[in-house]
Amino acid sequence: MNCLVFLVMAFLQSYQSNVSLMAEGKHVDSIVKLSSTMALKCVCPMNASISQMVWEKEENQTKQLIAAFRLPYDLHIESNYKARVLVTNFTSDNKTLIFSNATEKDVGFYLCSFHTFPHGILEKTIHVVQSGAFEFSNLSIHHLITKPGENVTFKYPFNSDVAVNQMTWERVQPDCIDLIIQCADSEMPIYGSDYQNRVDCISESSFVLLDVTASDYGMYRFSYDKVNGENGTGWIKLSSNNFEPLFTKLHIIFIGSGAFLILIILIILIYRSFCVTKKRKRIKKMRDYKDTCRQSQHQYKNWAGQRSANSSQNPTATEDPIYANWEQVMKK
Ligand SMILES: *[C@@H]1O[C@H](CO)[C@@H](O)[C@H](O)[C@H]1NC(C)=O
Ligand SMILES: *[C@@H]1O[C@H](CO)[C@@H](O)[C@H](O)[C@H]1NC(C)=O
Ligand SMILES: *[C@@H]1O[C@H](CO)[C@@H](O)[C@H](O)[C@H]1NC(C)=O
Ligand SMILES: *[C@@H]1O[C@H](CO)[C@@H](O)[C@H](O)[C@H]1NC(C)=O
Ligand SMILES: *[C@@H]1O[C@H](CO)[C@@H](O)[C@H](O)[C@H]1NC(C)=O
Ligand SMILES: *[C@@H]1O[C@H](CO)[C@@H](O)[C@H](O)[C@H]1NC(C)=O
Ligand SMILES: *[C@@H]1O[C@H](CO)[C@@H](O)[C@H](O)[C@H]1NC(C)=O
Ligand SMILES: *[C@@H]1O[C@H](CO)[C@@H](O)[C@H](O)[C@H]1NC(C)=O
Ligand SMILES: *[C@@H]1O[C@H](CO)[C@@H](O)[C@H](O)[C@H]1NC(C)=O
Repeated sequence: MNCLVFLVMAFLQSYQSNVSLMAEGKHVDSIVKLSSTMALKCVCPMNASISQMVWEKEENQTKQLIAAFRLPYDLHIESNYKARVLVTNFTSDNKTLIFSNATEKDVGFYLCSFHTFPHGILEKTIHVVQSGAFEFSNLSIHHLITKPGENVTFKYPFNSDVAVNQMTWERVQPDCIDLIIQCADSEMPIYGSDYQNRVDCISESSFVLLDVTASDYGMYRFSYDKVNGENGTGWIKLSSNNFEPLFTKLHIIFIGSGAFLILIILIILIYRSFCVTKKRKRIKKMRDYKDTCRQSQHQYKNWAGQRSANSSQNPTATEDPIYANWEQVMKK
């Protein structure tokens, strides 16, 4: 058992990423793999009133403007980017920058910033790299099961006597790595821009992600330093309950109530048509009866002595409305 743990640890330690979220001394929120149609995601992380938004690239220690947005709809894109980039314009808080035909020249550091009230300037730094450890091995992945809407706690998953000093958590996707949070002993947490109002450190070796959605399912990487100088990384897969039925409870409720409504409507329709036909039959019978009645009235005058015999012979005489009619007729 100890041997297995040792092997796993050895594997994890050998699986060190050479892509770092502290690149060239800068705090980096996301690492994006260069591709010709890459999207640099930038969504305002706070519910705030946004007055302006800017995309810049850092080159030779200076910031070069790519695009500037002024609400509601003014957009300026620098001429050397105009043909190659697109800024999403669906909502005021999502200003994702989409490249068409990006090249090696587009590798580097990008900065997106929202000028907001009342939170001030909110920034995100994105490092576009040509290659890196975006892949993961299937070996020794720890599983964490959750449901949408829950708060999920990620923790250091090994048994160890040595305390963790510091731990960094990242979300790893095929084309991008996002910093979530760094928790350290007696230091302020460092938040990734996209997670700053959804996460918090619980201890040096654990954090909580609030209000999970389906888009949070996937692979998470942790890197740790221990008090004895040991370090390493590992993986946690966040997923929903695997035994989730094809239809969720909500679906079942919707489909069920829909079917129930249709059933009720059908019953009402059938009942109504039944009543209508019944009524029609009655009316018809009544008419038939009136005809026969007139005849019998006629006959009555002729054969008054056969009255009672006639009434019992008449098959419709037992039906109530007709019987009432009959009595009226009798009173006359
Ligand atoms: C990561 O390491 C590989 C080789 O191990 C190298 O080819 C690649 O350029 C490195 N990436 C970065 C961003 O340093
Ligand atoms: C955002 O803030 C506005 C006013 O400040 C409030 O009306 C709205 O409900 C908030 N939305 C969310 C999702 O918190
Ligand atoms: C940055 O410096 C390199 C050479 O060091 C130069 O080729 C490039 O044009 C410079 N970029 C800007 C935006 O000045
Ligand atoms: C953004 O959308 C608005 C309304 O949908 C439109 O009026 C405006 O021209 C758009 N801006 C750009 C730069 O596409
Ligand atoms: C922002 O826009 C991009 C591009 O349209 C989209 O892929 C992404 O899902 C959007 N993000 C949010 C949070 O709306
Ligand atoms: C992208 O490059 C291809 C060829 O490399 C070219 O055909 C296409 O027009 C380019 N698209 C844009 C938007 O520049
Ligand atoms: C990991 O698992 C996925 C499917 O879950 C599979 O497609 C992939 O080939 C596996 N990779 C390795 C290295 O085993
Ligand atoms: C998640 O945590 C927040 C803040 O601590 C709390 O308000 C909320 O009720 C929790 N949600 C669940 C499903 O436990
Ligand atoms: C992990 O520890 C090794 C030596 O044990 C060291 O060379 C390496 O820089 C450390 N890595 C990190 C990320 O601290």
